[in-house]
Amino acid sequence: MIYNRCGRSGLLLPAISLGLWHNFGSVDDYANAKDILWHAFDSGITHFDLANNYGPEPGTAEQTLGRVLREGLGTHRDEMIISTKAGYTMWDGPYGDWGSRKYMIASLDQSLRRMGLDYVDIYYSHRPDPNTPIEETMSALDHVVRQGKALYVGISNYRPAEAKRAFEVLHSLGTPCLIHQPRYNMFDRWIEDGLTDLAGEWGVGLITFSPLAQGLLTNRYLGGIPHGSRMERAHFLRPEHLTDEKMDKIVKLNALAEGRGQTLAQMALQWNLRDSRVTSVLVGASSTRQLDDSMQALLAPPLGADELGRIEAILRNTD
Ligand SMILES: NC(=O)c1ccc[n+]([C@@H]2O[C@H](COP(=O)([O-])OP(=O)(O)OC[C@H]3O[C@@H](n4cnc5c(N)ncnc54)[C@H](OP(=O)(O)O)[C@@H]3O)[C@@H](O)[C@H]2O)c1
Repeated sequence: MIYNRCGRSGLLLPAISLGLWHNFGSVDDYANAKDILWHAFDSGITHFDLANNYGPEPGTAEQTLGRVLREGLGTHRDEMIISTKAGYTMWDGPYGDWGSRKYMIASLDQSLRRMGLDYVDIYYSHRPDPNTPIEETMSALDHVVRQGKALYVGISNYRPAEAKRAFEVLHSLGTPCLIHQPRYNMFDRWIEDGLTDLAGEWGVGLITFSPLAQGLLTNRYLGGIPHGSRMERAHFLRPEHLTDEKMDKIVKLNALAEGRGQTLAQMALQWNLRDSRVTSVLVGASSTRQLDDSMQALLAPPLGADELGRIEAILRNTD
């Protein structure tokens, strides 16, 4: 494993981190989930990313991690970075959503109970709340750090102007923003339009989620929709997302990766990590085999200027 410094902080994160959004809920096979978590840790993946609502059912990914920690992995707690978030709908009524101080603080207490932890390493505001003053959401993050319930704080899905304001407020409170977690992959490059530069200027690390576009940027769908795949099981990735135009690009990217002697997943992760302001790519996995495949990305020769140009041409339809 390669460990990268997260922005201008003292914290090193693995170049590949594991997210528990899918495959770790109450609907999933516990033995497989436990296997993936142990395998990841044994392979040097020290960072596990959660949110209050991961499951399904919401909350059950945190329970799964809590159980795996109780059953032995927790003896390595000081070797791990565990994050969670609040910001999306979690419970009924006006206090279980968005970014109020009430929600942010109550939700972290619930997450800690589900995971059986005294503290998380990183606590995130999962999305900006247009109706709550940003000072209120950020002061809630600062508060949980002062309570000892989180060591660092981060934001996710904030656009550049919102992120800048969040960085300023957190800086003024004395709890600098450690990290920003945006979506970033070959099919979704919005962060290149200002966010990456902003993070670099402020010394905030970037951990990019869905770097494989939920499995599209792999060989998973080259032969149709496999049984048990995310596209079959989850409503966040639907068959209509796999347009003919996208499939055409996937086939060409796959051929380019094969020419490099690697899988498309590996090339997609290398592409994501080509910018040093990206501290870590946050992958998901439904098997230890997938994780092993993805981690091989770190052993491959870097993408050359010519290869990056060919990827660009495929993505822009100018090949
Ligand atoms: N902050 C936010 O708003 C937000 C939003 C989304 C995600 N996230 C975080 O980012 C994490 C990762 O997101 P993601 O799961 O969408 O990431 P991803 O890595 O783009 O997609 C993971 C899926 O791709 C497939 N896959 C993974 N490795 C593969 C390989 N080597 N070969 C073939 N297929 C492979 C698997 O699909 P199958 O299940 O079909 O096998 C796996 O479930 C989440 O767990 C979460 O922690 C954050």
